[in-house]
Amino acid sequence: MAKIFITGVAGFLGSHLADRFLQQGHQVVGTDNLIGGYMDNVPKEVEFYTYDCNFLNSMKKIMKDVDIVYHCAATAYEGLSVFSPYYVNKNIYQITASILSSAVHNKVKRIVFTSSMARYGENQVPFTEDMEPRPQDPYGIGKFASEMLIKNICQTHGMEYVIAVPHNIIGPRQKYDDPYRNVASIFINRMLQGKQPMIYGDGEQKRCFSFVHDCLQCLEKMAFQDNVVGEVINIGPDEEVITINQLAKTIAELLNFDLNPIYMPGRPQEVKLATCSADKARKMLGYQTNYTLKQGLQEMIDQIKERGAKPFRYHIDLEIINEKTPKTWKDKLF
Ligand SMILES: NC(=O)c1ccc[n+]([C@@H]2O[C@H](COP(=O)([O-])OP(=O)(O)OC[C@H]3O[C@@H](n4cnc5c(N)ncnc54)[C@H](O)[C@@H]3O)[C@@H](O)[C@H]2O)c1
Repeated sequence: MAKIFITGVAGFLGSHLADRFLQQGHQVVGTDNLIGGYMDNVPKEVEFYTYDCNFLNSMKKIMKDVDIVYHCAATAYEGLSVFSPYYVNKNIYQITASILSSAVHNKVKRIVFTSSMARYGENQVPFTEDMEPRPQDPYGIGKFASEMLIKNICQTHGMEYVIAVPHNIIGPRQKYDDPYRNVASIFINRMLQGKQPMIYGDGEQKRCFSFVHDCLQCLEKMAFQDNVVGEVINIGPDEEVITINQLAKTIAELLNFDLNPIYMPGRPQEVKLATCSADKARKMLGYQTNYTLKQGLQEMIDQIKERGAKPFRYHIDLEIINEKTPKTWKDKLF
């Protein structure tokens, strides 16, 4: 059995991964500074630390005897990164350097990094792994820069690495009182409070949503399969492409909510059409979709109802406030 270290273990993907590895009998150690996740997400059996990944010396200590690192911690805020590039990248690029340094120090065998489809930016859709990354915002730039750092340090010091590119994964445990991200959760939280969803632009942006349980089987295989070492692999479906308008409509139907969305000006740098190909994940990791979008949304609704709808918390400062900053954030409209 392996000792697995998960950064961002109180977050959405990190906590689900911890559950899976614990169920398989592995030992899980994890850290999270709780900027983004919920303490309730952390499985009880995890050896848990509330350290910031930027604390290099602490990372070195708690990574002792670890075999595999899943580096999931990040301020995963694509839209916000345009206005708070310092804060977002401190918790993307800088923490990757700290985690890499600690992993090499502890002779970790393999690191699995969760990048983002934001790395592809304005490439042609569907995005395939062989495309040259062209990130369009500070979040995507930070993720791609982290990938380059991982390759460099792993090649220099002989550590295995795998780059996962998750995209629009949704499911229970995702933060839903955060005004800066997670569109499906925001819509559900607002509608449960009797409030209309706010949609940026005309709502015709196209996205593809993947349910967490369909993605976990692939993410967990990245720890042990030999053929994935050094690979970049998209994780998520390419089958059910929908617009943000259709997403709002589907959630409203599930909640029996009388929908009349509020349209807000579009956000700068937002990519109109963003979908990934899942062919490589199908071939290398046996990816297959078992959940429909409606089933996934229903599980999210059930969990948010159980935890209770909540007011939104503007917990991250805007570094740049100007005419491009969305009013929803500047004027705290959620
Ligand atoms: N969920 C998705 O659809 C998706 C899509 C693309 C990429 N990703 C990537 O996958 C990873 C996990 O995403 P998620 O959806 O679970 O996000 P999440 O916000 O739920 O989890 C990230 C966790 O990292 C923690 N964190 C942030 N900075 C930290 C720091 N400096 N020290 C310690 N902990 C810190 C947060 O508190 C949070 O709990 C992220 O790297 C994200 O960029 C996710």
